[in-house]
Amino acid sequence: MKPTKKILILPGDGVGPEVCEEAVKVLKSLSNLNFNLELDFDLIGGASIDKYKSPLTSEVIKKANSSDSIILGAVGGKKWDDLSPSEKPEKGLLDLRSKLNFFANLRPAISFKEIIHSSSLKEEKIKDLDLLIVRELTSGIYFGEPREKNNKFAFNTMIYKSSEIERIVEVAFKSAMERSKKLCSVDKANVLEVSQLWREVVDKKSILYPEVDVEHMLVDNAAMQLVRDPKQFDVIVSSNLFGDILSDISAMLTGSIGMLPSASLNENLKGLYEPVHGSAPDIAGQGIVNPIATILSVGMLMKYSFGEPLISEKIHSAVKKVLSEGFATKDIAQKNSIIVSTSEMGDKIANYVS
Ligand code: IPM
Ligand code: MN
Repeated sequence: MKPTKKILILPGDGVGPEVCEEAVKVLKSLSNLNFNLELDFDLIGGASIDKYKSPLTSEVIKKANSSDSIILGAVGGKKWDDLSPSEKPEKGLLDLRSKLNFFANLRPAISFKEIIHSSSLKEEKIKDLDLLIVRELTSGIYFGEPREKNNKFAFNTMIYKSSEIERIVEVAFKSAMERSKKLCSVDKANVLEVSQLWREVVDKKSILYPEVDVEHMLVDNAAMQLVRDPKQFDVIVSSNLFGDILSDISAMLTGSIGMLPSASLNENLKGLYEPVHGSAPDIAGQGIVNPIATILSVGMLMKYSFGEPLISEKIHSAVKKVLSEGFATKDIAQKNSIIVSTSEMGDKIANYVS
């Protein structure tokens, strides 16, 4: 008998439900799997606040713990904007990441030649671009205590334990070893103590990986270099906040943030898979959002959590094929594109993976 793998789907808010629907469509269309899939659905973010007054219920945490992996759409929206950070939809996502220890966030930015003209950068700058951002996801200023806000002042704490830096840096070195053995660690060591510690840990770890060519770069320079000459990078490792910002920049290199998938892994390679884009309330419910980031996140799930790189490649090829036929959602449309809706894009990709 085939084993059963459980995936929890948390569509969330805004365009989240629309992109998750297409990811599920692709999942269900995958043929010749050597496991059975059991899908379960639940609420997170604003959708959960509206029903349970909490962005992440203990019931959902329990389900997440007992599933093999999780697919998430997006959280947040205008309706909940005035809540305090500890009550916002985003808190549900942050708690999910931290409670399940999904500390290693992998955000690949790969340029598809089929949509190269939808990037704001010149073709020669981004042709064949393939870089990986390794972002620390469960510590740093996002989670640091103390934190406070009153009418007169507000503060947050940027803090890292050396053990937290070490485990993310280890993931980055391992990724570099599997790729072109080039690692750029991004920090703000000219100003921040926390970045000085980060650098020390990277240097210490690099002794164990003599084949990897390591470079340190300040985050302001890294932001500039990413748009000036992105192909100088292969693997970038950074803290939670800097990684958040750099991954949005690298998204634009690929043409649209609607193309960028992500994996957030714990020590056991169980993962949370989500598009890098947010809930995009301005386009939600119109059937125009690009589902490719979430569909490629399903590919990452197959590779990292289920040990099925071939299925991941199959999904990647299906996306390429549909793009090469000229089909595009609005965000990646070029001169001669045939513009399709979210669900038509999903149908076409699902058709090629079946
Ligand atoms: C991301 C998002 C989240 C983050 C938000 C929604 C909390 O921007 O996944 O990049 O800042 O981590
Ligand atoms: Mn972000």
